[in-house]
Amino acid sequence: MMNEAAIKDFWNTHPCGDQQVGGLKDDYEDFFNKYDAFRYNTESHILRCLDEVDFKDKRVLEIGLGEGADSEQIIRRGGRWSGLDLTPESISRLQTRMEIRGLDYDELKCGSILDAPYEDNSFDIVFSHGVLHHVPDIHQAQKEIARVLKPDGKLVIMMYAKVSLNYLLAICVLRRLGLMFLYATGISLGKIYDEHYELAKEVGLLKYLKMDNFIHRNTDGPLNPYSKVYTAKEIEADFPLFEMERAHKEHMHAPPLSVNHLPGAGLMGWHLWAHMTPRK
Ligand SMILES: C[S@@+](CC[C@H](N)C(=O)[O-])C[C@H]1O[C@@H](n2cnc3c(N)ncnc32)[C@H](O)[C@@H]1O
Repeated sequence: MMNEAAIKDFWNTHPCGDQQVGGLKDDYEDFFNKYDAFRYNTESHILRCLDEVDFKDKRVLEIGLGEGADSEQIIRRGGRWSGLDLTPESISRLQTRMEIRGLDYDELKCGSILDAPYEDNSFDIVFSHGVLHHVPDIHQAQKEIARVLKPDGKLVIMMYAKVSLNYLLAICVLRRLGLMFLYATGISLGKIYDEHYELAKEVGLLKYLKMDNFIHRNTDGPLNPYSKVYTAKEIEADFPLFEMERAHKEHMHAPPLSVNHLPGAGLMGWHLWAHMTPRK
């Protein structure tokens, strides 16, 4: 199983979404404004999905915080929020966000969900958006979530969807063809293909294109060490201590195709949300 240090190092040096808004310089207020506007413009379903969860007065643990945009939304919806992230960089950004936005919260901790620093039965809701598909030891993660969640609690997660336009067409077909084209012709299709090209040269093209490598490289940048894509059934299999209440797909996203405005996210969307309860 992959060493967690490599995953921590990647996220600490590539804070989630940072480059999409030009990176954090000195002005945190400006950065958070830009980041939140970008996030909720391109992924507006997140706010609707958060509205569907009753956070009010609930003890909420959020796992994997990134820039803390959803953390702020949960607190603004009345959740008694605690946050856990693997990286000092995310924790420091969250501390600053909470301070400059004047947000009240319970606890903010740097650590791993593989060894969650909380007592048993501590939370009413565990929320984790876009994180657990980056955790190779998912069985241990779900065990820890089941331990810290109250028996009548709720787990809400977002995982990357296997049955999606992004996985089946963009990643499995188009981006592989793009890299093969670059290999064959030397003609660059853009910076991201050039980065793939350099990495592929190290291990050989065929090995690089195998999906058990290529999937990691095509979700959160070419250097991302680990990602997995899921169907709802595969989430159930990886979370044996939980029962699925409902799952739904959101977010049309399949770069290099520009599909964000297209309908059909419920069928072929990239974000698979799952609502689960601890198995009795
Ligand atoms: C893709 S970002 C998602 C952040 C945020 N939830 C969002 O949707 O933008 C993944 C985050 O999860 C954190 N993370 C990865 N593995 C983790 C683990 N085992 N325990 C806690 N946090 C983890 C990373 O440090 C990173 O901040």
